[in-house]
Amino acid sequence: MGQTWVCAKVFGRIVDHMPGSLSPTPTPVLVWRKDLVFWTRFTLVWLMAITVTGAAVRLTGSGLGCTDWPTCNVNTELDAPRFHSAIEFGNRMISGLAIIPVIAVWLGARRVRTDLLLLVRLMVLGFVGQVLLGMLVTRTELDPRVVLGHFLLSIVLIFLGVLLDHSARAHHSTTSSEVTLRDLGSTSMTAPLQLRTHAWMSLALSTVVIVLGTLVTGSGPHTGSDESGEPIARLGFDIREITRIHSVTVWVLGALLAVGLWMTRDLDSPHRNRLLVIVGLGASQGAIGYLQYFTGVPALLVGLHIAGSVLFFTATAYYAAEATTWAHAAGQATPTTRHPAPELAS
Ligand code: HEM
Repeated sequence: MGQTWVCAKVFGRIVDHMPGSLSPTPTPVLVWRKDLVFWTRFTLVWLMAITVTGAAVRLTGSGLGCTDWPTCNVNTELDAPRFHSAIEFGNRMISGLAIIPVIAVWLGARRVRTDLLLLVRLMVLGFVGQVLLGMLVTRTELDPRVVLGHFLLSIVLIFLGVLLDHSARAHHSTTSSEVTLRDLGSTSMTAPLQLRTHAWMSLALSTVVIVLGTLVTGSGPHTGSDESGEPIARLGFDIREITRIHSVTVWVLGALLAVGLWMTRDLDSPHRNRLLVIVGLGASQGAIGYLQYFTGVPALLVGLHIAGSVLFFTATAYYAAEATTWAHAAGQATPTTRHPAPELAS
């Protein structure tokens, strides 16, 4: 009963936000904009969910739970346990349904934000790539290079999702005259270039950490396993060596984030708060990373590590995107400062 109510509520909210269906009166531009920011955020959350459930396919050894593509075990005997087929096919369904919010974003962008269409097209291209890679994963019987490529393309899609959501939101606020420099996280006009550089360097290094993490996984037991539960062929890296490189890079990233904390020490703003969130996520990721390493990489901890990576990357991508908007907005908005920069403090 309770579940039905929740489903009805969620469904109603989604239908309410279908482009053009919100209002009985002719749809005003602002309503389309509101729809758009709903759907860009929805798309991003969906992409994050696909990435984590995709990892669950690998961690439960369900990668070959379906022997056909795109259907599951059609025309073949169901020799893999049903549990694995259900997990694999469930992930395919969730991935396929992602096309709905993407179409909604495309409709909204066509109507009110044609400047976002390039990002939408890139996202569609990424989806096509994921479909092809998904097919290759099955055809190559979980070749670790293809499996890891599949994961990394998800990260690229999340990056596009963040850019889309952030761009839609930044413009939405500006045109509603709601934005101040403080909203964007700024309290000083002197720092944007350094902070922007710091934010993008953090994002670049986070990406390197994630790529190295996939190499660790590719060399360990969680690349995937066949129906009998036997691990499939792996990348040839020495597991200790590649884990060491992964964790040392994390320490370098930690040092970079500490520099960011120092640079923003006088700011009382969302920008610094976001950095604090990133530091918190990074610290828990590190703790889980060491814990899983010393406990023989149990699947549950690895799953948490992957979910944490997705959150960490998303937060860092927002941080970079917002630092850029702030730099652009700095010339247009009135700054509010706790410690005004000398030239503003007249
Ligand atoms: C910000 C911090 C970190 C991030 C973003 C991160 C990210 C990742 C990613 C994306 C993977 C690959 C997941 C997959 O493809 O399934 C991974 C794997 C791994 N990471 Fe990290 N990591 C971080 C910190 C650490 C630390 C400090 C350690 C300590 C040794 C560590 C140990 C591992 C291990 C052992 C694996 C392989 C797990 C497996 O068997 O699949 N990580 N990491």
